[in-house]
Amino acid sequence: MAHPSPHDPTAERWNDVDAYLTGTLVAPDEALSASIASLADEGMPEIEVAPLTGKLLHLLARIADARRVLEVGTLGAYSTIWLARALPAGGRVVTIEAEPHNAEVARRNLARAGVADRVEVREGRGADVLPTLAGDEPFDLVFIDADKESNALYLDWAARLGRPGTVVVVDNVVRSGHVVETDAGAQVDGVRAGLAVLRDDPRFEATALQTLDRKGWDGVAIAILV
Ligand code: DHB
Ligand code: MG
Repeated sequence: MAHPSPHDPTAERWNDVDAYLTGTLVAPDEALSASIASLADEGMPEIEVAPLTGKLLHLLARIADARRVLEVGTLGAYSTIWLARALPAGGRVVTIEAEPHNAEVARRNLARAGVADRVEVREGRGADVLPTLAGDEPFDLVFIDADKESNALYLDWAARLGRPGTVVVVDNVVRSGHVVETDAGAQVDGVRAGLAVLRDDPRFEATALQTLDRKGWDGVAIAILV
């Protein structure tokens, strides 16, 4: 078939583009592939970030010279591995996971990736674990990818646990376009509340990017602490 030049993205074309960009720019990696496979094998939701987004997190951490990284929502540690591999010697990722079984699978995946020594998986709800991190050295990058209802709370903790210049990334800010709806349920309400914090709270300067990839139509917000 000739290659049509669609004015609007079709799922077939954006998946082809995702496969092309991923195949071009993201090297295949056994530990990352195994962490993705573990989700299905362990009956966990297959909602890890797309490879291009995992590498975006990795590059942001390197651009920011991040030594201390905080993640809220570990799942199977796919994004955690990307972040851990961005750290210099002595660097650390603290990643918070509410589901004990997810945390157990994540620890296995981190060990297989050879980064268990620089990642601390903290089991518990973000609302309970985040306050225990106060007083430690500030985090240089924070990735928020957990229950969307709590995005505003997690952003408040990101601001408290960071310092001016800390990079803050929020996953899933488009939700197949539902983000523009004011009656789309608690998760979308949570995404919108988080974006309102990024707009209104003077501690943040933020933007957002829509993404079309193997995870569908979604997006990431990227912010800096002022
Ligand atoms: C969901 C959560 C995520 O973090 C994600 O990347 C995709 C989907 C969800 O809860 O549906
Ligand atoms: Mg996500």
